[in-house]
Amino acid sequence: MNLNKEEVIALLKNVQDPELKRSIVALGMLKEVSVGQDSVHLDLEMTTADPVIRQSIETQIRATLQGKYGAALKADIHVHKAAAKGPVQGPTAQSGIQHVVAVASGKGGVGKTTVAVNLALALAQQGHKVGLMDGDIYGPNVPLMLGVPSGKKPLVGEDQKIIPMEAFGVGMISMGILVPADQPMAWRGPMLHSAIQQFLQQVAWGELDFLIVDLPPGTGDVQLSLVQSVSLSGAVIVTTPQEVALMDVRKGIAMFQKTNVPLLGVIENMTGEIFGSGGGRKAAEQYGVPFLGEIGLNAKIREGGDCGKPIVIAEPQSAAARAFHEAARLMKNSLASAAAKV
Ligand SMILES: Nc1ncnc2c1ncn2[C@@H]1O[C@H](COP(=O)(O)OP(=O)(O)OP(=O)(O)O)[C@@H](O)[C@H]1O
Ligand SMILES: [Mg+2]
Repeated sequence: MNLNKEEVIALLKNVQDPELKRSIVALGMLKEVSVGQDSVHLDLEMTTADPVIRQSIETQIRATLQGKYGAALKADIHVHKAAAKGPVQGPTAQSGIQHVVAVASGKGGVGKTTVAVNLALALAQQGHKVGLMDGDIYGPNVPLMLGVPSGKKPLVGEDQKIIPMEAFGVGMISMGILVPADQPMAWRGPMLHSAIQQFLQQVAWGELDFLIVDLPPGTGDVQLSLVQSVSLSGAVIVTTPQEVALMDVRKGIAMFQKTNVPLLGVIENMTGEIFGSGGGRKAAEQYGVPFLGEIGLNAKIREGGDCGKPIVIAEPQSAAARAFHEAARLMKNSLASAAAKV
């Protein structure tokens, strides 16, 4: 048998994590590969102890390798559980930034941007220095929700760093203010992977207690590469209340668990008569993640987003604004316990 380590690694790129549908190589699970005469030894690291997932991955590995080298190939697979630790070591944010927190969801349109914006503003009202980074490169909505006109260009400082746009005391950066709205989206494609790095490294964030990152919908390649390119302090998952949303929450949670990012909590958004209530709390309990509260389905929240005056600013005494404040407090508690575990 003519075994070659590089070829084995290339083959293993076809083996996917069954939940995330992403290659085990891209997910960083493959820690070591060594090849013998007619055997391959693999060392895998997983953040989950779920035997079904483990079994699926092992079965795929054997099928892939034996499909190529024949049934006589011996695959010696050693799996160990990753120690619970902080996020994967990606490039860190600037030294002045205490916490980078992602706001994500398994599915689109559940209110991530609304939550990210209002959470950021609530944290600022609670006396923190806060930045808001629009990680949605293709569909940047943060400027609209904060009432920053798209034609308004940010200034560049002496050190060539972009100065974040200021809205209601929060510094904000978004592709929506860097690229004119009439530019074709395809233009942004090649910049995608570097954009997040630039948002982190080449923006003059200054001293921040929190940098909130609004992620695009879903758990695909884009999200994963974003998550892996930053050392996140944690993630907040947004979901709608329906029972069917549980699967989406699971996907959202899995993405962070597999990249070792602490889950700070689940927020249920659009709670009320139309979509019901309880799904977010249930999902949080089921997956062992703190529940950060419910935000009602409320026309004023949508209007606030549309007219660039988020509810936390427009109606600070409303039930919705209070719910965002409470979610912000619970999120800080989660950050403190996540830090204590490291
Ligand atoms: N609690 C709420 N009550 C009423 N409308 C809401 C609420 N939350 C969000 N919306 C509205 O729902 C729409 C989608 O919200 P938003 O853009 O925040 O979702 P998203 O998850 O960021 O979407 P995408 O996946 O496209 O990024 C917006 O028009 C927003 O104003
Ligand atoms: Mg959004």
